Amino acid sequence: MASVRQPVADGNKSGQKGAPRYKFIKIARPKGCGPFRKKEESNLVEWQENLSIGVLEIDIQHKLLFEKFNSFLQACQSEAEGDTVHRLFWFLEAYAVTHFNNEEKLMQELGYPDFVAHRKQHQEFAGEVGRIKERLKNEGATQSLVSSMTMFISSWLVQHISNMDRAIGHFVHEHR
Ligand SMILES: [Fe+2]
Repeated sequence: MASVRQPVADGNKSGQKGAPRYKFIKIARPKGCGPFRKKEESNLVEWQENLSIGVLEIDIQHKLLFEKFNSFLQACQSEAEGDTVHRLFWFLEAYAVTHFNNEEKLMQELGYPDFVAHRKQHQEFAGEVGRIKERLKNEGATQSLVSSMTMFISSWLVQHISNMDRAIGHFVHEHR
């Protein structure tokens, strides 16, 4: 099993120190199934400490989001049944919605000034995930769909956490 580290996202438009990074882990694909019959390696996304926003509750939820995303990807890459793949994607979607609700509740309790723009990003992401879920249902976990959703979800998570969510962390610490 080989492991490589790649800097991926900058997303540092609000000038925070240090470009956020996350690590792709190369994993050897087991026997192969469905669209993944070729013996290739695939990418998972690993949480990196520099994605921490300094609010424990939110950081824990972000880590769990990454874990659920990776569980889904691993199911796609293994011999998981279609039902398992769909169930894991549903878990990911449901957990993302729960997490967004928690973040929005926190922002409202704080009187956070950028609440509306932040919630809009959550809503747009949830809308896109809903469209991906429909495609997954209709097309199955094809390699091209899994690749494009992996790129979209991993990029979105890193960018959103690094910018919008980190700003919540700054606000919490400034107003504590
Ligand atoms: Fe957020």
